[in-house]
Amino acid sequence: MSVPDPKLAIARYRAHASGYDASAQRTLGLRRRTLARLALRSGETVLDVACGTGLSFPLLQEGVGATGRIVGVELSPDMLALARERCAREGWRNVDLRESAMETAEIPGPIDAVLFNFTHDVLRSPTALARIFAATRPGARVAVAGMKLAPWWLAPLNLVVLAQARPYMTTFEGLGRPWSLLEPYLEGFALESVLFGTGYIGWGRVKPAGMGEQG
Ligand SMILES: C[S@@+](CC[C@H](N)C(=O)[O-])C[C@H]1O[C@@H](n2cnc3c(N)ncnc32)[C@H](O)[C@@H]1O
Repeated sequence: MSVPDPKLAIARYRAHASGYDASAQRTLGLRRRTLARLALRSGETVLDVACGTGLSFPLLQEGVGATGRIVGVELSPDMLALARERCAREGWRNVDLRESAMETAEIPGPIDAVLFNFTHDVLRSPTALARIFAATRPGARVAVAGMKLAPWWLAPLNLVVLAQARPYMTTFEGLGRPWSLLEPYLEGFALESVLFGTGYIGWGRVKPAGMGEQG
């Protein structure tokens, strides 16, 4: 499939939701490194794009503190239900959860920082990115991480990448450079290849309004 399929994503995550947190343990180190790139400060508002079960919330809370705010938008009702349970369990009152596709989400801005952690479908949706950056203030920090295809000299590894990625994304389009539609919105974009070239962490700052479309 060459474009993300939200209906398929909802169906897939219905099946994955209950086992998601356990399966995501192996990428916890990567999650920590990615969130550190946001350099969150007390009192800020951070958008957790496609927040899933809210696995990043504890680290985001450490960054923004009780006076800050986390906005979590998530398409899958099953994943979001677990995020809600997490917030209730922890007694967090500063998390604004919204069940929606990013493409149509009402995002309460201005947003100071944006996290894209393993959100390939959203990264490959120009409509979703335009929506996100309409709510984000210029200069906001952005961090992104996920899986990608390894370079050609490690091509056999890509069979593993595709097998591991399949449950978590509905399109492989752009898997060579998943950040390519995001990059034009950012200045100072930097990229680190991880997991032998099968993963990446990227970071940068949002360009002033309108410059994203110009590249
Ligand atoms: C691999 S999970 C990552 C969840 C979370 N970001 C994390 O770090 O654990 C991908 C998530 O993207 C969500 N998703 C897919 N397409 C979406 C869209 N268009 N808008 C919002 N969420 C979406 C899925 O439902 C799923 O929860």
